[in-house]
Amino acid sequence: MKTVHSVADLHLALAGAPAPVGLVPTMGAFHAGHQSLINAARRENETVVVSLFVNPAQFTSGADLATYPRHPEADEATAADWATDVLFAPAPDEMYPDGFDTVVQPGAVGEVLEGAVKPGHFQGVATICLKLFNLVQPQRVYFGRKDAQQVAVIGALLRDFDLASRIELRVLPTVRDGDGLALSSRNVFLDPDERRRALLLPRALSGGRAAYRSGADPVEAARAVLEADPAVIVDYVAVADLGGLTLAAAIRVGSTRLIDNLLLTDEDD
Ligand code: PAF
Repeated sequence: MKTVHSVADLHLALAGAPAPVGLVPTMGAFHAGHQSLINAARRENETVVVSLFVNPAQFTSGADLATYPRHPEADEATAADWATDVLFAPAPDEMYPDGFDTVVQPGAVGEVLEGAVKPGHFQGVATICLKLFNLVQPQRVYFGRKDAQQVAVIGALLRDFDLASRIELRVLPTVRDGDGLALSSRNVFLDPDERRRALLLPRALSGGRAAYRSGADPVEAARAVLEADPAVIVDYVAVADLGGLTLAAAIRVGSTRLIDNLLLTDEDD
């Protein structure tokens, strides 16, 4: 595996790299969710590029950016173990040099749910992803269904900027711990008590889906589960069309914010 930190070295590393190229954009702090994306990229492509960049532009709170888990050395070793060919780990100045002045503004799909709670978040995501797609020129890009709204934003970006015929958007199912909690780099912040509370999130979504299937209101059912514990702060529970009718929710437990979603129509998710 080659680890590169600059755009110039990325171009050198990719010169003559066999196609197809699969790109897995990440912010590091790898867990089994990232592994499933990188494994899929490995199976489906000749060259696998993983980007590792904690993108300041998508954080709406300085504290969240400052405390985001970072383990660059461990991630580098893990990416090599997972058979990555090129790890691109730039510094912020490399991606946003002096004079950087252009952004991608997603439309309606980026304004609800996460976009309503964190204005500017999806502008940061879309901008960095377009830059990564331009730099790596992949044939396939890999994202997790855990961030269903992000997937919808990227799908719209590919469609609207005429990239969909050149770049296939591959979406992998949410990876969960045995107790049902969706894997997230932020789960490490949960103490045992908070983790117990966090489990209300997948339970609420399953309850909401069961309600939907029996003709009841999924949002009301999921909200009732979450609001049974006053220590759980509900940012939103909503149904949205995110590549299929999706029940999505965001909660805060202590200082940790968690998101999760379930396709209402899918038996397996
Ligand atoms: O999902 C993430 O980790 C980030 O939003 C992404 C796609 C790497 C863009 O910074």
